[in-house]
Order: sequence, then structure tokens, then C-alpha cells
Amino acid sequence: MAAPDSDTTPDTNSPDTTPDTNSPDTTPDAVPHSGPVPPTPPAQETAPVPRWHRHSDGAVLLDGFHALKHAVRFGAEVEVAVTADRAAALALADELAPDVLEALAALLTEVPYATYASLVPRPHPTAVAALAVRPSRAGNLAGLARTPRTAPVVVLDQPRNLGNAGAVIRLAAGFGATGVVTTGTLDPWHPTVVRGGAGLHFATAVERLSVDELPAGPVFALDPEGEDIRALRLPDDALLAFGSERSGLSPELRARADHLVALPMRPQVSSYNLATSVAMTLYHWSAAGGAPV
Ligand SMILES: C[S@@+](CC[C@H](N)C(=O)[O-])C[C@H]1O[C@@H](n2cnc3c(N)ncnc32)[C@H](O)[C@@H]1O
Repeated sequence: MAAPDSDTTPDTNSPDTTPDTNSPDTTPDAVPHSGPVPPTPPAQETAPVPRWHRHSDGAVLLDGFHALKHAVRFGAEVEVAVTADRAAALALADELAPDVLEALAALLTEVPYATYASLVPRPHPTAVAALAVRPSRAGNLAGLARTPRTAPVVVLDQPRNLGNAGAVIRLAAGFGATGVVTTGTLDPWHPTVVRGGAGLHFATAVERLSVDELPAGPVFALDPEGEDIRALRLPDDALLAFGSERSGLSPELRARADHLVALPMRPQVSSYNLATSVAMTLYHWSAAGGAPV
């Protein structure tokens, strides 16, 4: 049996699949606090553990400072946020994200480290965690369907690797893509995907759909056998589709594709990693003048 490509393992059954995306930023985990620590929230707000358990069903786990920072920045409704070191978390905000310092000061409650660790699958170096309301599917579907579309939708066709999916959502957010749609069984809101995406699920529309349900628009499906991307201009309303790490594009997606597009690659190299393929393709689209601003 042929060995799988390097980004095919581990798959969605393994919780720890994030390739180099677990540390969303290269920023220090904690820095000395430089300014005054905003006051602790009022007494009725300081019983976070029961609140955590009350809200945990169906909520989005924001694991670490950067995920919480991004989620707040992009309008997430945060139900509860805890940290084992409030001064360090607010010092990070002061240093790296002063725009959300006040909001984080109002949200974050300090709990003992053991309490924090009991709430998350794997403690994060910043010892920050929060629960946010998952954006409504109806709202996301409306956003994905809205026309005229000014930025592409990224379609991951039956992805397997949670880390890849997170990295792609982060890319989509960075490039101002309309959204990320996955087909197949991977849950794009899985905590490991949210962790890999650094909380940027709130900056774009993320949903799982079948190929039949994809939004309208021309499908440019990425495949090494396609037409060289350098000869193409990708339109703003494109659906940019990428195959699974293991087996490439599914027959259903191929049947829906209007164009097959190849990324330049030397002979004898079989393929690129899924997330890097998305990065190159979004960059190619943006180089013609699409978002970001
Ligand atoms: C890891 S590759 C899939 C490799 C898989 N073994 C196959 O048979 O295609 C994941 C996806 O990245 C995209 N991709 C990777 N390299 C590409 C290239 N050179 N040109 C276009 N797309 C590429 C394709 O969408 C592909 O389905």
C-alpha cells in the first residue's frame, strides 16, 4: 500500500492534529504587566465555573488568549472567560491587543490553575479559556449565499486533518474570504479546528454542507492536472475547491467543477499540503486586487 502524503495523518479521529498551528502567534505567552490592571468584575460575575457548565453545551471553546482576542475582535458573543493569571492575560492584551483590553478586562475572571485546567482538554500556555455562542447556521448560510460576492468561498472537499482545517480558516479570515465550507464528516467547529484557526471562525462564515448545497458561483477546483493558475484570473465570486489530503477531489466535486486549476510544481513532487495550497490560491486571487484592504 502506498504511504499517505505527509499531511494525511493523523486524521479527524485524533485530537492532536494541528501541524504547527497550535501556537497562533509567536508572541510571548506572558509578559510583565506594564499598565494598571483593570478592576475585577463585580461579585455576581465571579462564579465562572457554574456558568461555564451551564453554557458548555453547543458553545465554542476559545482555547488560549489569541483565540479569545480574535473572537472578541470579530464580534463573538462570549458567555464566560477564565484565566489562571488575570494580570498576565491583561498584560498581554495591553501589549498586543489594546483594542480589546477593556472588553477582556470585563470578561476575564481569575480561577485557580487547577480549576482552569479542569475546564479544557489540554491547558494552553496562556492559561486563558472562554466559551462563545456559535454563530447561527442560518446567518452563515445567508452570508455564503449573498450576491454579488466580493470575495471567494473556500471549499474543503472531505478534509481529514483538523489542523489543516484550522489553518485554512485562519487564511480565509486573513484574506477576507466570504467563508469556508467543508464537505464530509469533519466538523469545522471542532475545538481543535477552532484552536488551529486561532479563534478566526468569527471573522468569516464557516459551515459544513454537501456538494449539492454549495453556494452558487463558478467552481475553480484545485488539482495538479489542471490548467496553470498563473494563466488565470480567479473571479471574486469563485468557489475555490480543494481535495482531501488522502484522495484529492471527490467525484461529486469534480462533477460540479467549472475549471481544474494547477499550482506550479516541479515534476516528481506529487502534491502540496492542503493548507499551503489554499494559501497560494488565495494569494493569487488577492494579487489581482481582491481584499484585504
Ligand atoms: C495533499 S493534496 C491531495 C493529494 C492526494 N494524494 C491526491 O491524490 O490528490 C490536497 C489538495 O491540495 C490541492 N493541491 C495540492 N497540490 C496541488 C497542485 N500542485 N496543484 C493544484 N492543487 C494542488 C488539491 O486540491 C489537492 O486535492
